[in-house]
Amino acid sequence: LATILKRSTTSSFLLRRSYHSSESQPERKVTVLGAAGGIGQPLALLMKLNPLVSKLALYDIAATPGVAADISHINTRSLVNGYMGDEQLGEALEGSDVVIIPAGVPRKPGMTRDDLFNINAGIVKGLCTAIAKYCPNAVINMISNPVNSTVPIAAEVFKKAGTYDKKKLFGVTTLDVVRAKTFYAGKVKVNVADVDVPVVGGHAGITILPLFSQATPKGSNLSDEEITALTKRTQDGGTEVVNAKAGKGSATLSMAYAGAVFADACLKGLNGVPDIVECSYVQSTITDLPFFASKVRLGKNGVEEVLGLGNLTDFEKQGLENLKSELKSSIDKGIEFANA
Ligand code: NAI
Repeated sequence: LATILKRSTTSSFLLRRSYHSSESQPERKVTVLGAAGGIGQPLALLMKLNPLVSKLALYDIAATPGVAADISHINTRSLVNGYMGDEQLGEALEGSDVVIIPAGVPRKPGMTRDDLFNINAGIVKGLCTAIAKYCPNAVINMISNPVNSTVPIAAEVFKKAGTYDKKKLFGVTTLDVVRAKTFYAGKVKVNVADVDVPVVGGHAGITILPLFSQATPKGSNLSDEEITALTKRTQDGGTEVVNAKAGKGSATLSMAYAGAVFADACLKGLNGVPDIVECSYVQSTITDLPFFASKVRLGKNGVEEVLGLGNLTDFEKQGLENLKSELKSSIDKGIEFANA
C-alpha cells in the first residue's frame, strides 16, 4: 500500500507540476469533432491531460454532455465544454487553434477504408464547411477515413470558402508510424521508445510505405524477407485490429494515442518550439501527387517545411511506384466529390 500511495503521490505531483508550468504557456483551444466515438473519447481524455491545452471543446451529434461532464472533472489545466448537434457546432469551433476530426463510421471486417467513402465524405464536407465559417485559421488534424480522400475533400471545401491554407491541413498518419516503430523494435530488438521510422505515401493498404531503411537505431540486420513482412504488417495493421474486433470497429485506443501525439506536435509547433518533425499527409510537391505523406517540420503557421524522402532502397522505390495510381485515384475521388 505504501508503494501505491507513494506512486500516486508522485503522479499527482507530476500532474500538478505540469499544471503550474503550463500557466506560462499560451492559451490554446482544441476542438474534437466526433468526441463521443470510439476514438473521440480516449482522444478527448488524452487532450485533457495535455498541459498545452487551455480549452477543450468536445462536439458530437450525440452523447457529448456525458463525455464532457466526465472528463471535465479531471484536475488538469483545460476547461472542458461539450457541444451536441448542428446548432452548437459553431460555438464548439469558434476560437479554435486545432480541430481534430475523428467523426464518421469505422471499418468492419472485409471493408477497405474506401468503403467508408460515401458516409464519411459527406460528414467531413459538412464539418469543414462549418470550420471555414467559424475557425478559418485553425490547424486541422483529419482522422476520418479514407484519409487519402477526406484531406482533398477538406482542401476543396476550404478553397471554395476562400479560407484554404495548405500549411494548416493535415491527414493524421501517425498511427502508421506508431505501428512501424512497434513492429520494427520488436523485430530488431531495440528499445521502442528510441525508435524512429518514417512512413510516407498515404493512409490505406499499399499506399502506406514505411521506410525501414531509414529506421533508427539500427539493431540486428533485417533480411529482405523480414523487411517485406514488416512492411506488409504495417500496411495491414489497421485490418489486424478490425479483424480482432470482429465487427466492433477499428483501432480506437492506439489511434487516440497517435492522434494525441500528432496534436501535441501541432501545438508545440504553434507555440514556437523548434524542430518538431512528424510524418503527415499534406499538400506536397515532393512527388507528382498533390497530396502525399512525408516528414514535415511544424511551426507557428502549421507546416514550415515538407521534407523530402531521402535515399530509398530499390524495394522502397518499387513501393513508391506501386502506390501512386491508387493514391492518385483516391485524391481525384475526393476532389470530384467535393465539387459535385
Ligand atoms: P465511432 O463510430 O466509434 O465514432 C465516430 C463518432 O463520430 C460517433 O460518436 C458519431 O456520433 C460521430 N459522428 C458521426 N457523424 C458526425 C458528425 N456529422 N459530426 C460530429 N460527429 C459525428 O468510430 P471511430 O472508431 O471513433 O472511428 C472514427 C473515424 O476514424 C472512422 O472514419 C475511422 O475509419 C477513422 N480512423 C482513422 C484512423 C487513422 O489512422 N487516421 C485509424 C482508425 C480509425
